[in-house]
Amino acid sequence: MKSLRVEVNGREVEADVAPETLLVDLLRGPLGLTGTHVGCDTSQCGACTVLLDGQSVKSCTVLALQAQGARVTTVEGLAAADALHPVQEAFIACHGLQCGFCTPGMVMAATCLLSSNPRPSEDEIAQAIEGNLCRCTGYVNIVKAVQQAARTMAAGSGEASR
Ligand code: FES
Ligand code: FES
Repeated sequence: MKSLRVEVNGREVEADVAPETLLVDLLRGPLGLTGTHVGCDTSQCGACTVLLDGQSVKSCTVLALQAQGARVTTVEGLAAADALHPVQEAFIACHGLQCGFCTPGMVMAATCLLSSNPRPSEDEIAQAIEGNLCRCTGYVNIVKAVQQAARTMAAGSGEASR
């Protein structure tokens, strides 16, 4: 076992983990953050997407120890105390989910995109979520949700009025 220190959703976490422990297993197991889903375990589906120092990663392909000293954000860490994150709100408003299994990963991938590209084109959105599979929606409403979140976030930052 090795000692791990990592910040998860703003909270300092210390844990003893085996070298082969995957980040997704640390999150879902000892930390109880089951909003991060496991759909394939082979880096195909993106259901396990989280942010690692702000970059979206598939947490089934990252060793927990690779997050040593880093900042991890899961879907549980997005909402403020009294309000969902604009990306979460937009997925609801635009019907960007059906069964919801892919949704946490989609939301995290979209959040990562909008943090570096506040006004993405449809193609850029498609590219950003190409590693995230959805069996239900056909993706159209997911793209609409990301576009709506971009508008909301731009309005919130004052960009829309410029
Ligand atoms: Fe990680 Fe599918 S569970 S990519
Ligand atoms: Fe069901 Fe995407 S909403 S897999």
